[in-house]
Amino acid sequence: MSSINLQTIFENNRQWAKKKLAEDSEYFKKLSAGQNPDILYIGCSDSRVSAEELMGLKPGEVFVHRNIANMVPNNDLSVMSIINYAVDVLQVDKIVVVGHYQCGGVHEAMQSKDLGLINPWLRNIRDVFRLHKDELNDIIDEDLQYRRLIELNVQEQCVNVIKTAAVQRANKQRGLTVHGWVFDLQTGRLIDLNINFAKILADIMEIYRIV
Ligand code: CO
Repeated sequence: MSSINLQTIFENNRQWAKKKLAEDSEYFKKLSAGQNPDILYIGCSDSRVSAEELMGLKPGEVFVHRNIANMVPNNDLSVMSIINYAVDVLQVDKIVVVGHYQCGGVHEAMQSKDLGLINPWLRNIRDVFRLHKDELNDIIDEDLQYRRLIELNVQEQCVNVIKTAAVQRANKQRGLTVHGWVFDLQTGRLIDLNINFAKILADIMEIYRIV
């Protein structure tokens, strides 16, 4: 991959701002007036999975959080702050956790190696494997097992989202919903895993009910 000249970025930016103003002379005035996104997107930091572009959404339409392997660890202050802010202040009514096939983070978690500082982060993915090891160990094909772990990881991160008080409250008060999707880099398609939100919510409420 060729290296990007930083000057090019400033030139791109000038062109972009000019184009936006040509389309709508009030564009930045409106943009700076405030944000009112409807969706919180939690996805992977992978450079190939660019949230707004693949969903066809414009600036102002989606609140975005990205980290390695689209994780929602219960004690991660960053993702927990994002969820609380998006739900309580921005009043989003949809949360999407978006994984992707060929996720390097998930791949690393499937290897038996010491990755130093990143170990505790990837351990959350190993926990997903442990929770679903019967199903995963039955999959002989390594590629299929990798794909399935990516899907199950999305599902478990949705569960972590649902465990929060803010989400339970917003679901009760205004019908906020949580969705699990996977982006397929080979086809460019976004796949809805159709996680059974109502059932997951009912199941985990037995133990995780907060509100
Ligand atoms: Co990834």
